[in-house]
Amino acid sequence: MRSLFVLVLVVASASQLSAQASRLTSRAAETRFVDSILARMTVAEKLGQLNQLSGAGSPTGPGGGERAMRMQQLRAGGIGSFLNVVGADTTRALQKIAVEQTRMHIPLLFGLDVIHGFRTIFPVPLGEAASFDPATAQRAARVAAVEAAASGVDWTFAPMMDIARDPRWGRIVEGAGEDPYLGEQFAAARVRGFQGNDLRARDALAATAKHFAAYGAAEGGRDYNVAEVSERTLRDVYLPPFHAAACAGVATFMASFNEIAGVPSHANRHLLTDILRGEWKYDGMVVSDWTGIWELMNHGVAADSTQAGELGVHAGVDMDMVSEIYARKLGAAAGKGLPMAELDEAVRRVLRVKYRLGLFADPYLRSDAARERTVILTAENRAAAREGARRAIVLLKNDGNTLPLRKDVGSLAVIGALAADSNVVIGNWQALGRKEDAVSVLDGVRRAVPRASVTYAQGASPTSSDTAGIAEAVRVARAADAVVLVVGETAEMSAEAESRSTLDLPGAQQQLADALHTTGKPVVVVLMNGRPLSIERLNETMPAILETWFLGVEAGNAIADVLFGDVNPGGKMPVSTPRAVGQVPIYYDHKNTGRPPVATEKYTSKYWDIPFTPLYPFGYGLSYTTFTISTPRLAATTMGAGDSLRVEVDVTNTGSRAGDEVVQLYIRDDVGSVTRPVRQLRRFQRVTLAPGERRTLRWALGVGDLAFYDLAMRRVAEPGIFHVYVGPNSRDTQSAAFTLRGTSSIAVPEKCQ
Ligand code: NOJ
Repeated sequence: MRSLFVLVLVVASASQLSAQASRLTSRAAETRFVDSILARMTVAEKLGQLNQLSGAGSPTGPGGGERAMRMQQLRAGGIGSFLNVVGADTTRALQKIAVEQTRMHIPLLFGLDVIHGFRTIFPVPLGEAASFDPATAQRAARVAAVEAAASGVDWTFAPMMDIARDPRWGRIVEGAGEDPYLGEQFAAARVRGFQGNDLRARDALAATAKHFAAYGAAEGGRDYNVAEVSERTLRDVYLPPFHAAACAGVATFMASFNEIAGVPSHANRHLLTDILRGEWKYDGMVVSDWTGIWELMNHGVAADSTQAGELGVHAGVDMDMVSEIYARKLGAAAGKGLPMAELDEAVRRVLRVKYRLGLFADPYLRSDAARERTVILTAENRAAAREGARRAIVLLKNDGNTLPLRKDVGSLAVIGALAADSNVVIGNWQALGRKEDAVSVLDGVRRAVPRASVTYAQGASPTSSDTAGIAEAVRVARAADAVVLVVGETAEMSAEAESRSTLDLPGAQQQLADALHTTGKPVVVVLMNGRPLSIERLNETMPAILETWFLGVEAGNAIADVLFGDVNPGGKMPVSTPRAVGQVPIYYDHKNTGRPPVATEKYTSKYWDIPFTPLYPFGYGLSYTTFTISTPRLAATTMGAGDSLRVEVDVTNTGSRAGDEVVQLYIRDDVGSVTRPVRQLRRFQRVTLAPGERRTLRWALGVGDLAFYDLAMRRVAEPGIFHVYVGPNSRDTQSAAFTLRGTSSIAVPEKCQ
């Protein structure tokens, strides 16, 4: 039967191949289909499938190449995928060459960094995580997928799910922050959003779980630096979002640039094969990061490029992004330093992704010029971006109800270089985002209060220490009833290769703020940044502070919605905000230590010069209304291995406006065979309540919520006392306790929920 099938394929034309593929849907059929292609491929063609090249103009490194030579390479079956090639017509033309002019007719895969929107740009991922609403992220990813797919993109290098506890690291902006549980929820939601219900749909993108793994633990917050994490920390903290993404069916993984304990990820078989494929049973594809295979030589684990390629394939990196080492160097190694079985397995995984994306059935599925004209930057997409932006805003301070501002305000001074900038709000990783599409804060404010006199002065900029404009800004502020001061970072100050050594406001912005403070006018601070900034001084002097990240094309409108009270902010900080850079790494689920900090006792774990607490704790955010959250009620005081423990909590809007509260549930394992964090997020829910409304939230906890890696590196829950904390952030909580019954630890194998 199998040989007959292969025989049929040998004589099949490209169109017959497509027809055949569209009929085969089951996994068994997938395997048969993929193996039948593999059986006919030469070593060079196999290596070609593992070869990914970049179109011109990528910002992340060298690449590209001479067009004629590349077309020749494509026709010879030497290219399996492109990144940074976009547009329905362009992708269609290249695809036509691949399926009509190569011997094997295998379609290309087009990848792009669609990180927080394609043309309709949504909030940066860290901001989106501040919504504490994974459904918001899922919707954003869906819109991005619909837009990108119409433009010929099959595959996005997102979501990034690196846990980040050091805000000096610029890529903190690309993930969901410091917490593994929040990270899991957002990773899975984004995967579902990008991929939709069916990867074969014309509006589905294959997603990428990146960067595998512990990239966020870069020492000193310096990008690409080594990560020194123990196996336990790796599994308890850094891997959970990746596991959640695998469970959500993510089509691909990307290896990370860093090493862990001396092993660069691109050569880490323990990570990419033993854990990912072995323990997690993941059968998708792993792509290298940009020149990640080549960099094995710089890491000093490969003497030459051939060895680098062999190490990469052996570790489990299937596709080589732009190094071209697999394609150029591994031909001679195949069957020697590179076992054929390993090569074949890598090719199988690449073909499988193409098959799952429906590309064999219709290689032009996602290159649709008509859709490209109609589905991109639609009014609905903009509306979704505005809603996403509103939900990402966090109110950090609001003394004396400074906010919301009155809509009948007579005059308003908008100040700061970032206020009039419609490029900054798009953030980094812009895909096809354009500043012409985006609304600055100044424009948003002007639209929201057309009758007010809105004046503007730059004052100072994040990129210059020039203080010359401050006097003018003060003059403008003095003439106004209230001041909106927009300060923070430029978009380029976070994301890849954008680490900072301080978390202070860059440039002369603090001087500007100080000068405005002396005017005595009410100053509302609007922060824009891709990382938490240490703004202790602003927090002391300014009455109101809004954290707005980089909110995307609708930023100015969403910020105005909040400034003037059409929207009540309800976001929460997905990262702890340090008072000073010297506190990093700082995160709420730290260990207790043998000498937990006590402000009045010298020989305890703290700083001499500043408090040990963050400026704003993880999960923190205010509202224009007020809420009370009850003490958690547990259905029982003990719990057995197979039980689920019901927890109830009441949340009441005690103010006079409708608003959102994010109720958060944390646990603590009081005594373990290894030390356990002081608390760990286990549930959260964002609820909208009318004034006076009360809602009871109900959750069920199981042993999976209590599990960790024990002394013997088994995933277990250990009998004993646990505390449950509930509150509006990780600090201001009330608790109840229960006992997990048993005489020995309970095995909790890692499985999909
Ligand atoms: C390097 C980055 O680390 C990665 O996140 C990105 O997807 C690739 N470049 C491709 O642009």
